[in-house]
Amino acid sequence: MVTPTELNILVDTGSSNFAVAAAPHPFITHYFNTALSSSYQLTGRTVAVRYTQGNWEGELGIDRVSIPKGPNGTAVINIAAILSSEGFFLPKVNWQGILGLAYPMLARPDASVEPFFDSVVQQLGIPDVFSLQMCGAGLSASSTDDPAGGSLILGGAEPTLYRGPVWYTPIVEEWYYQVEVLKLEVGDQNLDLDCREYNMDKAIVDSGTTLLRLPINVFSAVVGAITRSSLIQEFSSGFWDGSKLACWMKGETPWRFFPKLSIYLRATNTSQSFRITILPQLYIQAVTDVDSPLDCFRFGLSSSTNGLVIGATVMEGFYVVFDRVQRRLGFALSNCAVNGGVALSEIAGPFSAADVASDCSSGAPKEPLLWVISYALMAVCGAVLVVLLLLLVLPCRRRDRFGEITDESSLVRHRIK
Ligand SMILES: *[C@@H]1O[C@H](CO)[C@@H](O)[C@H](O)[C@H]1NC(C)=O
Ligand SMILES: *[C@@H]1O[C@H](CO)[C@@H](O)[C@H](O)[C@H]1NC(C)=O
Repeated sequence: MVTPTELNILVDTGSSNFAVAAAPHPFITHYFNTALSSSYQLTGRTVAVRYTQGNWEGELGIDRVSIPKGPNGTAVINIAAILSSEGFFLPKVNWQGILGLAYPMLARPDASVEPFFDSVVQQLGIPDVFSLQMCGAGLSASSTDDPAGGSLILGGAEPTLYRGPVWYTPIVEEWYYQVEVLKLEVGDQNLDLDCREYNMDKAIVDSGTTLLRLPINVFSAVVGAITRSSLIQEFSSGFWDGSKLACWMKGETPWRFFPKLSIYLRATNTSQSFRITILPQLYIQAVTDVDSPLDCFRFGLSSSTNGLVIGATVMEGFYVVFDRVQRRLGFALSNCAVNGGVALSEIAGPFSAADVASDCSSGAPKEPLLWVISYALMAVCGAVLVVLLLLLVLPCRRRDRFGEITDESSLVRHRIK
């Protein structure tokens, strides 16, 4: 009997390797000591993965895992032992590894390295479906503890974690979880761009990305529409580009000044769409660790040169079902996206898709030559017991908000009476 190593793992639907720290690093407190695992075997291959931020190198091995509270039995899975890294483990992150849940096409060094979930499905006979509830939204900036959590359900969906119907959108291409965005609305205002702009060069659902990232043209249009419809005209551009925070007097929550944001996704009946909506509580985000007498917030959207990314900012509003059997993603209202009895997200449909092109994703380059994912600043932390045990439901902590502007001189100040 080997004592299991307990590690926190970042759950990332935008990559496909399972990798854990296997050597000491100044920013992590513990790691997977492969020498202590009697079942760990080297394959003799090395692997290097580069993300938008950070990279790591290590060796590929295989090991056995079992999942308590889950399917019975153990599975032999690929596991990359991270031996060196740059900018990957960061100060204050509370995780020591990453679980890539995307398709084999994104696995490194190549698609022959079967991803973790593929192995579990094959060997333990569970349905090829997982679902993710990310919590942590809408907490008051003054809350000091980390009450939020999240769940990763392997093999299906857990009805107690969501409300109402699950709306499905087809997976356009099986590499990232690529979907088709038909329309964006700010408040009631349709941005009215050509729908191909929203999917330039792809639109994906990625739990490893913190923000809602939008192609540059789309981002500018959204910021313009928010500025026009919010009651605040004098925001410094630094707020929108993420270099500055906006601060209000303590207790003056700013959300009533901002509109809702809606994303229309292609429905499985392709002549229809449905709409997922987030309230400003999800995209005007409290930054807790600023040493200031004010309550400070950051903008939860950013511009992107490599596609639209539905990241944690949006995912925190929804229970998301990754139904790989039927090649579709499902969205339902998340039970944890509620603050003070107010739901922070909405879903509505069906709507006619007759007013948009029949294929808004056409023209997208299909090879993943640009291996860029932003695992970024988000940590869905799960207590994962490598070697022998792997928890099915991963409890997790609110995301670490490191890397934020903490220099008071750079804060935008708004005092609203
Ligand atoms: C796993 O095994 C236990 C004990 O044999 C049994 O009660 C349980 O139903 C099994 N679970 C699954 C998912 O097969
Ligand atoms: C798909 O949507 C169209 C347009 O709303 C509708 O006319 C049609 O009946 C729907 N098809 C199915 C199978 O529901």
